[in-house]
Amino acid sequence: MIIRPIQTDDRGAWQPLWHGYLEFYRAALTPEITEQTWAALCDPTSAVHGLVAEQDDQLAGLAHLILHPTTWAVRPTCYLEDLYVAKQWRGQDIARRLIEAVYAFADESGAGSVYWLTQEYNAPARSLYDTLAHRTSFVVYQR
Ligand SMILES: CC(C)(COP(=O)(O)OP(=O)(O)OC[C@H]1O[C@@H](n2cnc3c(N)ncnc32)[C@H](O)[C@@H]1OP(=O)(O)O)[C@@H](O)C(=O)NCCC(=O)NCCS
Repeated sequence: MIIRPIQTDDRGAWQPLWHGYLEFYRAALTPEITEQTWAALCDPTSAVHGLVAEQDDQLAGLAHLILHPTTWAVRPTCYLEDLYVAKQWRGQDIARRLIEAVYAFADESGAGSVYWLTQEYNAPARSLYDTLAHRTSFVVYQR
């Protein structure tokens, strides 16, 4: 299993992971949004970056992140927006390795911190996150 940056020829293997992730959130995005997301992931000048877990020419999981400036530091920060491991690959430390690779990417990119959100009731994700980061007291509002 290797964790590596997403490449343009990953499109066919990335799409089922992306759809699995959207299904997990019961989200239906328009094809236009998926196209835009894929284009951003493949654009080296974009702030959106992707990592994938690959084994035997198959993609097992993905992490999408956004590097952005922050008013609270000189250095940028890294938002881990999407994390997904396909059902048949779960429980093999793939998500842990993806997050560790996000940390390495953030460090290499000069980001001073990495942050992400999850749902209160996402117990599998939270039990992993509790071993890798600290939980903040912030609550998310959205209009
Ligand atoms: C959450 C998710 C990414 C975890 O992927 P994974 O590769 O199975 O996770 P890992 O194997 O790296 O898990 C490592 C640790 O996380 C915890 N964990 C993972 N899955 C768990 C589960 N189903 N139940 C309890 N703990 C779990 C355990 O602490 C585990 O450590 P252990 O193997 O030593 O017990 C995966 O279940 C997933 O894609 N879920 C649907 C999408 C999602 O929730 N994404 C995150 C949104 S914020």
